[in-house]
Amino acid sequence: MRKKTILVTGGAGYIGSHVVRQLGEAGHHIIVLDNLSTGFREAVLHGELMEGDTGDRPFITQLLREHDIESVLHFAAHIVVPESVSDPLKYYGNNTCNTRNLLAACAAAGVKHFIFSSTAAVYGIPPNMECAEDSPLAPINPYGRSKLMSEWMLQDLAAASHLRYGVLRYFNVAGADPGGRIGQSTPKATHLIKVACEAVVGKRDHIDIFGTDYPTPDGTCIRDYIHIEDLAHAHILALDHLRGGAPSFTANCGYGHGYSVREVLDMVQQVSGAKLDIRDVPRRAGDPPALIARAERIRVLLGWSPRHNDLREIVTHALAWERRL
Ligand code: UFG
Repeated sequence: MRKKTILVTGGAGYIGSHVVRQLGEAGHHIIVLDNLSTGFREAVLHGELMEGDTGDRPFITQLLREHDIESVLHFAAHIVVPESVSDPLKYYGNNTCNTRNLLAACAAAGVKHFIFSSTAAVYGIPPNMECAEDSPLAPINPYGRSKLMSEWMLQDLAAASHLRYGVLRYFNVAGADPGGRIGQSTPKATHLIKVACEAVVGKRDHIDIFGTDYPTPDGTCIRDYIHIEDLAHAHILALDHLRGGAPSFTANCGYGHGYSVREVLDMVQQVSGAKLDIRDVPRRAGDPPALIARAERIRVLLGWSPRHNDLREIVTHALAWERRL
C-alpha cells in the first residue's frame, strides 16, 4: 500500500523541524510547507520542502490534492508573546486567519487528521500555577487568544465533518536535537534559555530578568520547560493515535514541574561555567506569573513517557547548539 503523505506547515522552524526529523526517522512520507520567514531550509532534514504560505489558499488546495495529504501537522505561527501585545493583528492574521484558511482547504480536500500546535498561553493566569486541560481558558495576551480561536475553529469543524484533531498545548519548549543536527536558530530570539545561551557565547553582553516582584518564591516567573525532543515525540504518538482511529483530543505538553527565571539562569551558569551579567528590570507585557502543566492526560492517552525531563540536559543541548551556530 502507498504510504499516506503528511503535510507539516512550519516544518523549517524550530519545533517543526524537530518533528520532521523524527517523522523522517520513523519512515513517514512528508511534505514541508514553510514561507521561510523565520524557518531555515537547512533545518529540513527529511521530506520535500515547498516554499509557500498557509494564507495562500489556491496553493494549499493544490498541494493537498496533488500529494493526497491525509494528515496535517500545523506549526506555522508567530510565537512571541510580547510582540503579540505590540502587534496583535500580525498574530490574529497569521495564527488565526491563516489557520482558518488552512482548515477550509483541509476540509475541502478531505484531510482526515489535524494536529495543532497550541500553547499554555490559552490558560492565562491559572489560580494555583497549574493548568489541566479542563482548566478555565482565559488568555491574557493576543498570542494566547489567537491560538485559542484556532482551537475553537478546529473543534467546531471536527463536529461538523469527518476531520479528527489533536490539540497539543505546549508549555515552554527548549533545548535542541541531542545529535546536534538542528536547534533553535531564530535571529532576535526572545526565549529565556535561548537568550541566556546567546549571552554565554558572547552574542549578548547581558541578560535581563523581566520582573522580580511576581507572587512566586523568588519573585521571578515560573515556567514548565520541556525538551524539544520529548515534545517532538508527542507529535509522533499523537499522529499514530489519530491514525489508529482514536477520537479528537486536547493534551498539555509539559513535565508538570516548573523553574523560575533565576533557577534557569543559575543552571545556564552552572552548565556553561560562565558568569552572566544578569540585570533585574521591570515586568514584560503579557507575562503570567507561573504556568505549570498538569501532565497526566498525555501519558495516559498517548503513552508518552519523557526521556529528557531534566533542566540540566535541556540547557546542555541548547548551549551545544548555540556554540555550533
Ligand atoms: N524572560 C526573562 N528574560 C529574557 C527572556 C525571558 O526574564 O531575556 C522571562 C520572561 O519574562 C518569562 C520567562 O522568562 O517570565 C519565559 O519567557 P519566554 O519568552 O522564554 O517564554 P514565554 O513563557 O513568554 O512563552 C513561551 C512560548 C509561548 C508559550 C509559552 C507557554 O513562546 O509560545 O512559553 O508558557 F505559550
